[in-house]
Amino acid sequence: MTALIEAQGVSKHYPVETGGFLRRTTIPLRAVDTVSLAVMEGETLGLVGESGCGKSTLGRLLIRLLPATTGTIRFGGNDITGLEGKALREVRRSMQIIFQDPYGALNPRMTVEDIVSEPLAIHDETAGAAKRVTDMLSLVGLPSRARERFPHEFSGGQRQRIGIARALILNPKFVVCDEPVSALDVSVQAQIVNLLQDLQGELGLTYLFIAHDLGVVKHISTRVAVMYLGKVVEVAAKHTLYAEPKHPYTRGLIASVPVTHPVQRAGGRAERKRLEGDIPSALHPPPGCRFHTRCPLVQPICRETEPAVTEPAPGHLVACHLAE
Ligand SMILES: Nc1ncnc2c1ncn2[C@@H]1O[C@H](COP(=O)(O)OP(=O)(O)O)[C@@H](O)[C@H]1O
Ligand SMILES: [Mg+2]
Repeated sequence: MTALIEAQGVSKHYPVETGGFLRRTTIPLRAVDTVSLAVMEGETLGLVGESGCGKSTLGRLLIRLLPATTGTIRFGGNDITGLEGKALREVRRSMQIIFQDPYGALNPRMTVEDIVSEPLAIHDETAGAAKRVTDMLSLVGLPSRARERFPHEFSGGQRQRIGIARALILNPKFVVCDEPVSALDVSVQAQIVNLLQDLQGELGLTYLFIAHDLGVVKHISTRVAVMYLGKVVEVAAKHTLYAEPKHPYTRGLIASVPVTHPVQRAGGRAERKRLEGDIPSALHPPPGCRFHTRCPLVQPICRETEPAVTEPAPGHLVACHLAE
């Protein structure tokens, strides 16, 4: 297995204004904090964690939609961290994103044809565009008469198909699926997940699949990475992660998956401790292990020393003092 995309020590600090009217200062919000993570060619890497933990920011950093504050990003072995202008546009063709909200992500005044073909226009590939749009619409399961219509004429699931067609029209290699089914009715979530899986096989895509719970990613992922407050705390092959989670946060997430999940039931046993309390502010993360304020197993060392990432079994990465 070779890495298609690789983050090494990547951070994103958003400047945030605090203080009152007279004492306004800017402090960095560490949305993503020194994360190292690789997405292997052809796999689906699930990325899960509670809302606000930095998943979308990390996804955008990987595809250079956002500049990183620190660290290196490699695509196909090449350092793309500092690319600009034409070189950046060129590499961005190969890396696309599907957004969570199919309502907000599509321009309501553009026809489906214009929405789906816009990336071709941006990249000066207008030759044969009409046929490519027709082919792409059929690939995502939309009738060709959809091309003259507007986003509001479609259901949420169909709108997400339009977003998928737009993301795939340039034949990308890597696609960040940023909670692509979270905003959809449960009855259509499985259809969209299955479509994404079929398209992956047909087009040879590599996915980062973001979700806020472990239910959806259990179905689609090859491996799963768990994020907490700007850090990746555990990464493992899917079955290992669900059967032998090593981080207390991962165990809490598994226990929190609703058993009636439409896509897949996670293997959480009822006696596992569900997560309690709120995620602390990313502006003032706790010292030591960031999870210590909510951890049922907290020890004195956890309050003082940040745990290093260890590999207790091949391919199983975890950042916890108690993981041995
Ligand atoms: N443009 C921004 N400016 C300031 N803070 C931001 C910005 N975007 C996201 N954040 C903050 O960064 C953290 C991570 O956000 P995000 O990556 O959207 O998390 P997730 O996708 O896991 O919900 C949150 O605390 C969020 O409030
Ligand atoms: Mg998000």
